[in-house]
Amino acid sequence: MSRLIVVSNRVNPPTGKGDESVGGLAMALAAALREYSGLWFGWSGKTTPEFTGQLAMQRIDGVTVATVDLEEADYDEYYNGYANKTLWPLFHYRADLTAYDRAYGEGYERVNCRFAETLRPLIEPDDMVWIHDYHLIPLARELRKLGVENRIGFFLHIPWPAHQLFTTLPGHRPLVEALFDYDLVGFQTAEFQQAFEEYVISEADGEHVGPHCLKAFGRTLHVGSYPIGMDASDFGKMMKSARAARMRDLMTAATVFRQLIVGVDRLDYSKGLEERFLGFERLLIDNPDLRREVLMLQIAPPSREGVEAYQEIRARLDALSGRINGEFSDIDWAPFRYVNKNYRRDELAGIYCASKVGLVTPLRDGMNLVCKEYVAAQNPEDPGVLVLSRFAGAARQMKEALLVNPNSPEEIAEALKQALAMDKSERIRRWRALFENVQREDVTAWRDAFVADLAGTAEKLKALAS
Ligand code: F6P
Repeated sequence: MSRLIVVSNRVNPPTGKGDESVGGLAMALAAALREYSGLWFGWSGKTTPEFTGQLAMQRIDGVTVATVDLEEADYDEYYNGYANKTLWPLFHYRADLTAYDRAYGEGYERVNCRFAETLRPLIEPDDMVWIHDYHLIPLARELRKLGVENRIGFFLHIPWPAHQLFTTLPGHRPLVEALFDYDLVGFQTAEFQQAFEEYVISEADGEHVGPHCLKAFGRTLHVGSYPIGMDASDFGKMMKSARAARMRDLMTAATVFRQLIVGVDRLDYSKGLEERFLGFERLLIDNPDLRREVLMLQIAPPSREGVEAYQEIRARLDALSGRINGEFSDIDWAPFRYVNKNYRRDELAGIYCASKVGLVTPLRDGMNLVCKEYVAAQNPEDPGVLVLSRFAGAARQMKEALLVNPNSPEEIAEALKQALAMDKSERIRRWRALFENVQREDVTAWRDAFVADLAGTAEKLKALAS
């Protein structure tokens, strides 16, 4: 079996203690590497005044973890800049927040070059290299320049935007051209894959030369959609932990005679938190009888705090949560708990289990693993209801959730009302179908499908040529 090298901007290998943060990518990659005794390469999370290129190597749970520090200017221009002020907002349909700055683009190219130079000596001839997410689109191109001929795959964890929107990005063409240095590019959903193909065909004179195979820029590229799943077996174990049970009991005791609605998201404008808060407020306005019956808990650990748009959304959410509580609280109760703190995954599992509704309403999301974990945490005999945005990639698989337009506080309020009133037999019926999907299409199935396709790309090319 070839060794698997996984590359991602953020590398946080699991501690095995369940204390990892919100953000599904790192958990998924750790699970993906299991059984491969592979290598995981990326940023250490630290910065130094100048780039040193020095590798820190550790062996964790059978996986070699190799990290490198970024230079302070890289952090500003590549991470905060091009990745999180340009690509992230644009790919999440926030053209209004998208900043175009030449220095950001230069920083992005520079870091991809530096990553390639640092990673190059670690690559052996039979390795398969799997690169993740929007931070690292040009990495294969830089590795090819250094003579790497190995199979290299790329997986985009976030949405690929519609063709017309993508063309608003200065330098959109070279970015797509860089993707043609991979053997396989994977998307979360068929819709994102289609948007990419549309771009290649209409903007780069591309053509289909076989099933899931595109030709453009004088090269041939395989594409596919691979919906990422959660680590179902690990989560199952965590559900049985004492810590999860303690948290479940604590939350159950805190909400006796009341129904708990829970949301858990990184504090990001793409997560639809303002609209969600307004949806909860609308529920309270329209249903005075529910006011003492429900409690909403929103956990939102701060994220990317160096980026202004994140500071601004935080300030708006502070004001909105204060307003809702000020408006509806009484001396002996308050309807809303808004917590800017990170919780361990096992604690979150306990909180999900104690809640009647999981409210997951991103305005755009590549996949969203919180909704899958919410489902996995439910008591099969008395499960809660998932209210899910139709614009999360997961909505394609999770059709038995109550699907809503996350831009509409009215729709959110209606779905909450329906969820809170849903009888047990319907809750069980919906939950069974969701749980079956979450278990079947888990992270191992995702990894295996992608890696098998990456391994098979050479044969497919041969077959096309003959
Ligand atoms: O899932 C998208 C993603 O950007 C991942 O690449 C990343 O690890 C996660 O969200 C959290 O974001 P950040 O690494 O910027 O804290």
